[in-house]
Amino acid sequence: MSALLVTGADLAGAGAQDVLVEDGVIVEIGSIGAKGSRGWDVLDADGLVVLPGLVDLHTHLREPGREDAETIASGSAAAAVGGFTAILAMANTSPVTDTAEAAERILDLGRAAGLVDVVPVGAVTKGLGGDELAELGLMHRSRAGVTVFSDDGRCVHDARVMRRALEYVRAFGGVVSQHAQDPHLAGPQACAHEGELSGRLGLPGWPGIAEESIVARDVMLARHTGSRLHVAHVSTAGTVEVLRWAKAQGVSVTAEVTPHHLVLTTDLLAGYDPTFKVNPPLRPQEDVDALREALADGTIDAVATDHAPHARHDKEHAFVDAAFGMVGLETSLSVVSDVMVRSGRLDWAGVARIMSQNPARIAGLPNHGRALEVGAPANLTLVDPSAEVTVDRGASLSLSRNNPWHGRTLQGAVHATVLRGRVTAQKGALT
Ligand code: DOR
Repeated sequence: MSALLVTGADLAGAGAQDVLVEDGVIVEIGSIGAKGSRGWDVLDADGLVVLPGLVDLHTHLREPGREDAETIASGSAAAAVGGFTAILAMANTSPVTDTAEAAERILDLGRAAGLVDVVPVGAVTKGLGGDELAELGLMHRSRAGVTVFSDDGRCVHDARVMRRALEYVRAFGGVVSQHAQDPHLAGPQACAHEGELSGRLGLPGWPGIAEESIVARDVMLARHTGSRLHVAHVSTAGTVEVLRWAKAQGVSVTAEVTPHHLVLTTDLLAGYDPTFKVNPPLRPQEDVDALREALADGTIDAVATDHAPHARHDKEHAFVDAAFGMVGLETSLSVVSDVMVRSGRLDWAGVARIMSQNPARIAGLPNHGRALEVGAPANLTLVDPSAEVTVDRGASLSLSRNNPWHGRTLQGAVHATVLRGRVTAQKGALT
């Protein structure tokens, strides 16, 4: 039998307690330390907050196809260090995850890495082509048990295809995670928020309405079909308005926001640094403010990283030619702590909700995002709320270096991650 005693932990703001874990399950919570250890491993959590293990609804691992940018093993390592016990691996690999076999392969590679539960996301359409539904039912019934489907990186823009996908997944309680972006409104060259700055910089613009019009359409399709819709990486105040309305109507819609859209703004593009090129684009401060408020009041359910590693030779180009995306697994908890907790917008129970409980519920992961109580699987994230971290992209366990936080100092850091009673990472390193 393996046993781990976490001592003096603040359970998401509920006061200091000890937590005893045996064979991966919480067996006792209370004042246990004094009873003495019987060969237990001990993790001193004095001054730390303990959250249910973080769950990321939106990770890009690049295996298969682009193992030079990230592998399932390297992405799992970055996730463990970042406090995650489960990550959803997006389908836009090469080949695309659009069959049961492809999904099972990702599941198996994740298990072999053994650092975090890697949960495959299935493509909505074959090859992300946008016109023919992928094997949704077969992927769901496979060993991978795929529940979340997304063509992320591309929008399912054909309304008929989106309707069919929603109808199809409803039968087994699945959800479609939409990359909301009308390709005609955004245009093939778009790479910056459409506004005064994009005009001045000569960068093809990307209007907020390209996102908002698809979200408005999709919530009506979700209402019509009675299906579950999830909106990936919300980036505008207009989308927040639509979500608020849809939720008030009882539409089954959930949404996520990335750490970068909660902090970084479009003016960072003034230096043409491709590190800040991302899809959807960084927006003006008014949008950032609306996203923070929506996350605090529950209109947006979750923070998801959209960790998008890219090799140097894809990212270090003239702005218009560089790949879209930024890494985020290792910094997300610190960003959320800094922008949401330090400012008083959320407490730690709120962080547990948006980074663990809600994402686990949306993805249908019964063993993650559970309340910390006797009988629950010991998936834990220990956070030091007062630690100051200065981000160093060179210290990352990701294979890629497209890190927009490099050089920034953030307050609050992951101290350790526990997956089913096993400490997977501590102080920024694997154990
Ligand atoms: O910036 C992005 N990068 N946005 C996406 O939707 C896809 C992602 C990627 O795969 O690189």
